[in-house]
Amino acid sequence: MNVYEEYRRKLISIDEAVAMVSSGCSIAAAMAASAPPGLLGALGKRRDEVENVRVFSALLLRDYDFFLDPSMKGHFFLESWFYGAGERRGHELGTVSLIPSHGREWGIRKAQFDPPDFFWGTACPMDRHGYFSLSLGVGYEKDLLAVAKTVVLEINPNLPRTYGDTQVHISQVDYVVENEAPLFELQPIEPSAEEKAIGAFVADLIEDGSTIQLGIGGIPNAIATFLMNKKDLGVHTEMFTDGMVDLAEAGVITGRCKTLWPGKMVGNFALGTKKLYNFLHENLAIEFQPGRVTNDPCVIAKNYKMVSVNTALQIDLTGQVVSESIGHLQYSGTGGQTDTAVGAQMSPGGKSIIALRSTAKKGTISTIVPFLPEGAKVTLHRADVDYVVTEYGVAHLKACSIKERVNRLIAIAHPDFREELRREARRLKLE
Ligand code: COA
Repeated sequence: MNVYEEYRRKLISIDEAVAMVSSGCSIAAAMAASAPPGLLGALGKRRDEVENVRVFSALLLRDYDFFLDPSMKGHFFLESWFYGAGERRGHELGTVSLIPSHGREWGIRKAQFDPPDFFWGTACPMDRHGYFSLSLGVGYEKDLLAVAKTVVLEINPNLPRTYGDTQVHISQVDYVVENEAPLFELQPIEPSAEEKAIGAFVADLIEDGSTIQLGIGGIPNAIATFLMNKKDLGVHTEMFTDGMVDLAEAGVITGRCKTLWPGKMVGNFALGTKKLYNFLHENLAIEFQPGRVTNDPCVIAKNYKMVSVNTALQIDLTGQVVSESIGHLQYSGTGGQTDTAVGAQMSPGGKSIIALRSTAKKGTISTIVPFLPEGAKVTLHRADVDYVVTEYGVAHLKACSIKERVNRLIAIAHPDFREELRREARRLKLE
């Protein structure tokens, strides 16, 4: 078989690919920076010809009209594993609904119970053996590609060629479209004074030789800058970030002490700037694996001294962690927070850290609250919480009674709110 001939035979235009979509069908589309901008951008053009088309995806970072234009209602509907700003707007419009799910299950459970008709992904150009690399994301992509009736890949030469379980052969693909689009870049934000204090506390908890996971959000990203003095860290994460590149280039991340995939940085998707994407390109030290592997607590636990670092929006005095909602507002998703927190604690010498600012809304409200507000969704169960860090210190909650949790959490709350928290704790008979 000549793979180049097969490629040419399968090459169609974006409009031709989108023309295959029919009423009532479902499309699984790759997520975040690996979402296919050409295909998803053209989908809305079919509005007047189709109804009830469902798209499954997560963290779509561009403004796609198929779910952000109110006139698309009834024609297209987005089911999302993880909300960003776009999905939050779509939710308000009634064109998006969350799929509550742990990161480890996104692909395998959809494949098992609701397999898609189409898989739309992105890949870098085919190599001479006929292989594509799915590049920036394999969280759920390969699991859904395997069960979809029709697989379409959007080929973009700007995408880095990544290694691990990212390879797809031309024989597994029904159609290819070509689109040389700029990659989505998420610029890191300069850490605030509070985030710097949190970073220093978290760094104290991470011993040399640990394997780390850094979650999504400003705080985990800021923490990377405080790890520059560590030795021989390893990475087993969900998301690759710019901060990890700095640590690898500074010789801090070596993977030398890793007990699983020694020497390799393991993750399932990447989101950052060109610096990160260039670092990932043809880098044999990078091992992409699907979410069902990277996020399986039993796999995570095979790393010794595994430390997970995630952030949250709120925590109550009993230790219930809310990371995905603000009251009734669905803000993001569960992602890998529970997977990574539980897996890290199962690892010999492991720790799980929830790092959050003590206040929100310019210091007007405490993120440590006596009880959760109406509509709050618990992301990390209080039985699974371990360390909590704010800019005021570290509270180790594991094995503590609620009475003791109350004391430790109030000690790291913002001083302006400590008295009120104490009063409420007394009223609620928590202490
Ligand atoms: N009440 C009301 N609003 C709050 C709040 C609270 N308790 N806590 C934070 N907010 C507001 C902030 O002020 C901010 O609003 P603004 O943008 O208008 O200033 C907004 O909520 C988000 O906070 P921010 O700190 O900017 O979010 P982030 O980008 O750092 O992400 C999470 C933080 C928690 C949303 C994110 O980490 C997440 O979704 N986690 C769950 C999944 C996860 O951890 N996965 C880990 C593996 S990748």
